[in-house]
Amino acid sequence: MISSAKPRILTGDTPTGKLHLGHYVGSVENRLALQNDYDCYFLIANKHAFTTRADKPDEIRQSVIDIATDYLAAGIDPNKATMFIQSEVPAIDELTFFFSMLVPFNRVMRNPTLKDEIRDKELGENYPFGFPLYAVGQVADILAFRPVMVPVGEDQLPHLEMTREIARRFNQMYCGVNPQTEDIDYLKAGGLFPIIEPKLGRVRRLVGTGAPGPSGELLKMSKSLNNAIFLSDDADTVQKKVMGMYTDPKRIRATDPGETDPTKNPLWAFHETFNPDKEWVSQQQEAYRQGKVGDVAIKRRLVEILNALIDPIRTRRKQYEARPNDVLDVLREGTKRANSITEETLTLAKRAMKQDYFRRTLAIQ
Ligand code: TRP
Repeated sequence: MISSAKPRILTGDTPTGKLHLGHYVGSVENRLALQNDYDCYFLIANKHAFTTRADKPDEIRQSVIDIATDYLAAGIDPNKATMFIQSEVPAIDELTFFFSMLVPFNRVMRNPTLKDEIRDKELGENYPFGFPLYAVGQVADILAFRPVMVPVGEDQLPHLEMTREIARRFNQMYCGVNPQTEDIDYLKAGGLFPIIEPKLGRVRRLVGTGAPGPSGELLKMSKSLNNAIFLSDDADTVQKKVMGMYTDPKRIRATDPGETDPTKNPLWAFHETFNPDKEWVSQQQEAYRQGKVGDVAIKRRLVEILNALIDPIRTRRKQYEARPNDVLDVLREGTKRANSITEETLTLAKRAMKQDYFRRTLAIQ
């Protein structure tokens, strides 16, 4: 039996590259705060990366290590939080198969996150069978840990809704829970799986350093859009990216304060997100609108603020880069802990489904 005084939470990332500032405000910051009060499990969803990049195993492997290194560098403490590799936790796959029987195929395909991915990644009709399956896999990622809460970005909410539906269904079908039961009472009523709650981060969507897209809106920071500032960028790179950042050209002509919208200007979006001195930001914004202060001064201040944030991360990253085996050791220990919990969940789930024929043990080396 695993026991911990702190309530458990679970969240994850698909390894698609290094972490950038969008990840920092969308999730890293949240996790740094949560690791003190919760028993945290951070899953690296390497199998999900195979849904669209099965032909790039080297990149996926590198990205698994990069993400773990970035989290450690950002201050995730391996003594407080557990990081682990999805593909080394077999109970997740086993639960995925059983859970896939509890949801209609059409329901999976109506999941808006999958629809958006098919559109944005231009998958057309050619996505693999494993692509829709990953959504059920994510339900298993979560329920295998029976967490009280799941911190995620807004785009993940449809997956969490499916998690709630499948948990209700399992509990009703195999644990005899009355369908009229309130969500928070499912465990009390004899259910195995909690009906989990999402938790969103402080900043839902950080813009990138580039110009607005075709719709006139600034685009989300993303590695593939080439508009990201990475936690692993050196000080010069941060400076270059900020000094070369897009700014609203209309500002120069605008004399009427209403004429320029600072939210359409990434420079101000960044100050509003990262500059702790709110008063400075609103004063300078006004001066900027009136043409009394130029881009360069505001950009210089942003460079200082971002480098102050990233500096300690860089220092710690160097230490971990020098000892790659330490990162692997953290993942190994984390994966062992993840297996203890998920094996226990699987045993209980199989018992509920009357498929508990034998006992087994699992050993990571
Ligand atoms: N799909 C999530 C993403 O791409 C990553 C993820 C996988 C996840 N399993 C999870 C997030 C479980 C929360 C809980 O960001």
